Amino acid sequence: MTEFAIQTKQSASLRPLTVLVMLAVAASFGCWEQIDDGKWFPQMKRQPVIQAFEEVKWNDQMQGFVPPDGTVPVGGSALPDLASMDMASQDALQNPKPASLESLKNGEVVFGRYCQPCHGPLGMGDGLVAGPSPFAPNNTGPFPVVLPINGPTSMARVFSDGHLYTTISLGRGRMPNYDRIPPMERWDIVNYLREINGQGVRQ
Ligand code: HEC
Repeated sequence: MTEFAIQTKQSASLRPLTVLVMLAVAASFGCWEQIDDGKWFPQMKRQPVIQAFEEVKWNDQMQGFVPPDGTVPVGGSALPDLASMDMASQDALQNPKPASLESLKNGEVVFGRYCQPCHGPLGMGDGLVAGPSPFAPNNTGPFPVVLPINGPTSMARVFSDGHLYTTISLGRGRMPNYDRIPPMERWDIVNYLREINGQGVRQ
């Protein structure tokens, strides 16, 4: 009985080792089998790449790697610096995103995520977080007087796309900014606001 138990234990402990050996054998074939005919590279680590900090040398001069045209730096932005613009220029910003169904659909999702808590599911100023206001007297939330951005007293209807985009990007008055929303998705919200305000131009 004891002998049987020991044998079982031994074979069980051998199994992972066998698997490891098989894996090692398999792995040793994978990478080395590729043909180096000048078009292909024998190993992943040897392949044509541009190193981020590669130096450019020419005519005894040297400079750092210059990113290709149109490259947007990580954490940076090729977009207008809204905060340094006056209100007229902010208001005049053109909406680069056509109001496609895809844009409206995403606008609805992002609106529901970021705007609805205060402005309400349809933008009437009656979100869960909103407090009582002349527009929605029955509100019970802690955030006072959230303006409606839909309906007869809609603030969104009277403003330009650029104004709405700037409001989302920088915040306005007591409204915090939502610059965490990627710029193109902010335009989706603008398109969605136009749509629910009956000003939508489908594209
Ligand atoms: C934390 C609550 C809150 C959230 C969330 C919020 N807002 Fe607001 N919003 C406000 C308040 C409060 C005002 C009134 C600001 C003021 O005049 O002090 C306002 C005003 C506005 C206005 C009118 C701007 C103007 O020029 O008067 C627009 C448009 C607007 N919000 C759009 C949005 C959009 C779009 C989102 C989602 C990205 C959003 N808001 C998210 C609270 C919020």
